[in-house]
Amino acid sequence: MAEQYDLAVVGLGYAGLPLVVAAARNGMRVAGFDLDATRVSTLARGLSHVDDISDEEVAEALATGFTPTTDPDVIAGAAAVTICVPTPLRGSVPDLTAVLDAAHLVAPRLRAGALVVLESTTYPGTTTDVLLPVLARPGRVVGEDFHLAFSPERVDPGNPAFGLHNTPKVVGGATARCAEAATTLYERMVQKVVAVSTPAAAELTKLLENTYRQVNIALVNELAVYCDGLGVDVWEVVAAAGTKPFGFQSFWPGPGVGGHCIPVDPGYLAFSGRSAGRPLRLTELAQEVNDGMPAYVVDRIARLLNDRERSVRGTKVLLLGVTYKPDIADGRGSPAVPVAELLLDLGAEVRFHDPYLRTLRLNGRSLPTEPSLDAAVADADLVVLLQPHLDYDLPVIADTAPLLFDTSGRTVGARVVHL
Ligand SMILES: NC(=O)c1ccc[n+]([C@@H]2O[C@H](COP(=O)([O-])OP(=O)(O)OC[C@H]3O[C@@H](n4cnc5c(N)ncnc54)[C@H](O)[C@@H]3O)[C@@H](O)[C@H]2O)c1
Repeated sequence: MAEQYDLAVVGLGYAGLPLVVAAARNGMRVAGFDLDATRVSTLARGLSHVDDISDEEVAEALATGFTPTTDPDVIAGAAAVTICVPTPLRGSVPDLTAVLDAAHLVAPRLRAGALVVLESTTYPGTTTDVLLPVLARPGRVVGEDFHLAFSPERVDPGNPAFGLHNTPKVVGGATARCAEAATTLYERMVQKVVAVSTPAAAELTKLLENTYRQVNIALVNELAVYCDGLGVDVWEVVAAAGTKPFGFQSFWPGPGVGGHCIPVDPGYLAFSGRSAGRPLRLTELAQEVNDGMPAYVVDRIARLLNDRERSVRGTKVLLLGVTYKPDIADGRGSPAVPVAELLLDLGAEVRFHDPYLRTLRLNGRSLPTEPSLDAAVADADLVVLLQPHLDYDLPVIADTAPLLFDTSGRTVGARVVHL
């Protein structure tokens, strides 16, 4: 008989590993299956590859019932299986290859009565139209012989206040019994479970959350470009609007959106709308506005230098903070990449500093981080603050930089110019 587990997590990345840790912490026996043998052996040695999960937490999970493995047969012994594999976009089209591969691994091994939950972000209909047909083999009825649900992963990497345990978990079951099974599973790990009526409603919940961010960021980015032409300080405007105690939430301009979620998830929503013949125009436009921000940053830099009778060519530009957001070690999809590439194309001498990343990978080349922040600031002609990591002493940088272009609006000083 296969080894018995309360949960098998398929895919041990940013989404899967926090789930493993939460489950083990709450007394569950957890098998973690991943195709990546290096990742599995690293975890087996108690080392984490995920920002929010420490080595100590992995070691603790290993000591209390976590088994990382490349053997898919662990699924046969699991009462519940969560699928946490990547769902990237290829151009503007969702790529569900990993979800389908995972489903084909799970289907022949699923034990009677087990629960399968898809956690990967995807368009509405995936759980019932793509996953269910693979799992519902002849003679196997969903809600009776096995259970199926969708529950979005909502963790905000680097957020010290909200983690898996205190962020409500939304679940949508394929049937009422499926919803009950999924609710029971997550109630063992999180403070609050919110059941919605269908998997599609749960799938759309996640897309709405991230599209809401994308659209609101695009709104202030567009306003920032407009304010620049108008000669009005956009930071002052957003701060003033933020004093309204109701009906307004502050979003701030920036060099563009990055990471694994905000630039991708609205693409799933847009694809879904286009496929249904009802394009979601605001969603698509927001992406376009945010995608244009790195070029706008470089345009502002060129104008800034031009006003000082300098060209971009030959100027020593230091980029500070090249992760996709502050205080995390994740460079995926960072707007720093197109900013650096555009500046290099114009002939600038580009350098960067980031306490979290040693290398900035560009198309066809990579840059090493500057070893000393102080020396790099002193040596630059222009400093561009992209991500205001807490590690940075911003008043000191503003005081010592010969010229500072601040895309975060956090600094003040005689030689500071805001986005
Ligand atoms: N990164 C985040 O903070 C975040 C937040 C919310 C939602 N999500 C969503 O969670 C899903 C997973 O993203 P992630 O960031 O964890 O990805 P990731 O790349 O960090 O990890 C995915 C893991 O899945 C493994 N994998 C791929 N195909 C597999 C297969 N067929 N079987 C077993 N393992 C397989 C990979 O080797 C990798 O270890 C995506 O849909 C993503 O949109 C991510």
